[in-house]
Amino acid sequence: LREHEEFTKVKNISTIELGRYEIETWYFSPFPAEYNDCLKLYFCEFCLNFMKRKEQLQRHMRKCDLKHPPGDEIYRSGTLSMFEVDGKKNKVYGQNLCYLAKLFLDHKTLYYDVDLFLFYVLCECDDRGCHMVGYFSKEKHSEESYNLACILTLPPYQRKGYGKFLIAFSYELSKKEGKVGTPERPLSDLGLLSYRGYWTRVLLDILKKHKGNISIKELSDMTAIKAEDILTTLQTLELIQYRKGQHVICADPKVLDRHLKQAGRGGLEVDVSKLIWTPYK
Ligand code: ACO
Ligand code: ZN
Repeated sequence: LREHEEFTKVKNISTIELGRYEIETWYFSPFPAEYNDCLKLYFCEFCLNFMKRKEQLQRHMRKCDLKHPPGDEIYRSGTLSMFEVDGKKNKVYGQNLCYLAKLFLDHKTLYYDVDLFLFYVLCECDDRGCHMVGYFSKEKHSEESYNLACILTLPPYQRKGYGKFLIAFSYELSKKEGKVGTPERPLSDLGLLSYRGYWTRVLLDILKKHKGNISIKELSDMTAIKAEDILTTLQTLELIQYRKGQHVICADPKVLDRHLKQAGRGGLEVDVSKLIWTPYK
């Protein structure tokens, strides 16, 4: 999905069925023309194929043998699993996921070349299978050091900490690559809120531990957060002063504690010991 200049089109599909949820959509998504007359679409929650009628889905579910996203399970902790799907090896799945995601993403247009992306799909697993909660996409090679292209938590799962989990996960991958990363712009309002929340929590925890005696470069090395994002976050928190042509961190312990109290819940943590992954080559 890519930034675009077009105005937002009217939305077409108003509801989708996915697993045990019926979900109201938010935005237009450019499904193939034959779906233009549909108000509701029925998705297979595992392969993400979509159909016009409930009976078609029921027939599909009897023969679909997927019980989780295609690709490699690279993380498992309790009932949470993360799957890495290569858009080149699973083109149809990648395209289906993009169609689905666009229903909840504004300011992005469908980027058809799913070959160039990896999809990280977060699932809650039970005895019926692994149910998609959300995902993020990532370019295999990014010139701009983007470590995340699009992020989505499906509406029934929002506001439970999954978004920050996905963001944390994207930075854990960057740490394993030995690179800094930043999300592709523009960010949506909810995207910005989630990133601000994540950056604030992570940076405040480190500043507290080091009693503020640390540079932006060191913070960036430790967290894989790009220096610019650290600077804007600390500026928003009023923890930066400009002295002799340089930005310096001024972390008064009282100010830190005040911010830490206000910062959101830590929420779902990524347990790095459960991540089994090598960078894409
Ligand atoms: N109202 C106010 N604040 C919110 C809301 C909301 N509805 N939703 C999230 N936030 C803020 C809060 O600060 C929250 O932290 P807190 O609960 O500790 O206060 C923080 O964001 C993160 O909340 P999570 O529960 O971790 O995030 P969630 O699972 O809801 O996912 C996401 C966030 C992915 C942005 C989700 O809202 C979403 O999918 N939105 C639609 C798609 C979208 O806009 N994606 C981002 C586009 S930008 C890009 O892709 C690069
Ligand atoms: Zn299926």
